[in-house]
Amino acid sequence: MTAALSLTSLSAGHNGVPVTRSLDLTVEPGEIVALIGPNGAGKTTTLDTVAGVLHPLGGEVEVHGHQVRSTAEAGKRGLGYLPERRGLFSGLTVRENLWLRARSRRRGDPLLDDYPALQRLADRRAGLLSGGEQQILALAAALASQPSVLLIDEMTMGLAPVVVTQLVELVRTAAAERGIAVLVVEQHVKAALDLAQRGYVLQQGEVVMEGPAEELRGRMDELHAAYVPGKEAGITG
Ligand SMILES: Nc1ncnc2c1ncn2[C@@H]1O[C@H](COP(=O)(O)OP(=O)(O)OP(=O)(O)O)[C@@H](O)[C@H]1O
Ligand SMILES: [Mg+2]
Repeated sequence: MTAALSLTSLSAGHNGVPVTRSLDLTVEPGEIVALIGPNGAGKTTTLDTVAGVLHPLGGEVEVHGHQVRSTAEAGKRGLGYLPERRGLFSGLTVRENLWLRARSRRRGDPLLDDYPALQRLADRRAGLLSGGEQQILALAAALASQPSVLLIDEMTMGLAPVVVTQLVELVRTAAAERGIAVLVVEQHVKAALDLAQRGYVLQQGEVVMEGPAEELRGRMDELHAAYVPGKEAGITG
């Protein structure tokens, strides 16, 4: 079976200077995979490269077996990206943000049906929403484009547990019911391994551990070690 997302020997970086080296990673349809690691490990750089925002310094990104080298190619192959900065249009309403990203435009508000937290906010400008509401909208907007592969950067950072629970449930449903392949980047190891079925641990641009989430959860001491020297800012819980 061809993986939904496949990174082969991917080197990513800025201005020709590599941050990650020779990264091999796959995500199957319907699978949730976590890419974890301390501050500066290269997680966002990797996602930006997969999404075609940055050019790879080496290696390949393939979506359903097709090489992707630009945001246009990535979009064409069904890749969606929920970046750390959320990518919302703050001057547009909740409804407009969803419509703008929607692939199919049916009558009524089917886009809002799956998001009770957003329904009463439909006509409010995105910029006026709370951080948690904005993150739910950003995820809803990314899903409205009907991606087959979804990249998510630090989705839960700084949000209340009740919002985190809602976001996690939405991602799980998207993977399980729509077969979306999800690659989540997280600093919070436990949250990431609770959500994902498999994980890769990045340290200084290289994968130092990988395996099923359950197995990685059983190797917390090694995970802690991978976070040194950024330990204080790294693992919580
Ligand atoms: N636009 C840029 N130009 C040059 N260097 C950059 C740029 N963006 C990031 N870097 C550098 O690349 C390295 C990796 O950064 P990156 O943002 O990918 O890490 P990260 O794993 O996402 O960290 P965090 O957990 O803090 O988000 C860092 O050393 C960072 O300073
Ligand atoms: Mg980052």
